[in-house]
Amino acid sequence: MKRLILFGAPGSGKGTMGDFIQRDFHYTKISTGDILRSAIQQDSAEGRQAKNFMEAGSLVPDELVTELVRQRLGCSDLGGSRGGYVLDGYPRTLAQAKALSDIASENEKAIFIEVTEAEAVERLLSRLTCSDCGAIYNLKTKPPHKADICDFCGGRVDRRTDDNEEAVRQRFRVYAERTMPVIEYYDRRNVLERVDGAGAAGRVYEKIKGLIA
Ligand code: AP5
Repeated sequence: MKRLILFGAPGSGKGTMGDFIQRDFHYTKISTGDILRSAIQQDSAEGRQAKNFMEAGSLVPDELVTELVRQRLGCSDLGGSRGGYVLDGYPRTLAQAKALSDIASENEKAIFIEVTEAEAVERLLSRLTCSDCGAIYNLKTKPPHKADICDFCGGRVDRRTDDNEEAVRQRFRVYAERTMPVIEYYDRRNVLERVDGAGAAGRVYEKIKGLIA
């Protein structure tokens, strides 16, 4: 089984690239942000525990997220993913990186999508997301065909509650302090590729595609 890990600042395009990879390579996309948002929507115990952390732009405790990833990796549908999965948003701390290698040691590659903070903030403040299927839109560059309605599932398209200036700044602080060391850790293990994330999404994806094939 191949494991691809997408790294990058909030708004760098991890979710967008993960969707393209899932579509073209039939890898299963596993987004911890999506799993947690779905838990909040279902008002599960995990969702209630995660809600305040997420709204403030802080990290949800390692044990909680790792347990959700462990459960997801144990699901039988991964077998239908033609041998691969792509992680979007995990691991984000060194403790999570260690937990991941304990859960399963796979043939692994990590891709670091690099963008400036100014570019990422601009994207996040104009992002819209489908609250049902998680599809990602952007008011400026990729609006849904019908206002507020998801092109794929007909669900409601809206701003994420953590896409406000204050939470976004906090997410960047957390990313610099907690996740940059994880990226350096994968770099030291020689499994990290860097991709310039500036420019249209299709052009960025072309570069990523070349690294996966
Ligand atoms: P998560 O959902 O993972 O948020 P994030 O890491 O902040 O990343 P984003 O989803 O905001 O951005 P993205 O890089 O996916 O960009 P996207 O493709 O959407 O996590 C949210 C929260 O959950 C965390 O803050 C934390 O609380 C919790 N959490 C999650 N995982 C956790 C973990 N492992 N441990 C602890 N807590 C965890 O693109 C952004 C916008 O830009 C879109 O509008 C898109 O259309 C547009 N766009 C994308 N690419 C381009 C491009 N090339 N050009 C122009 N526009 C583009």
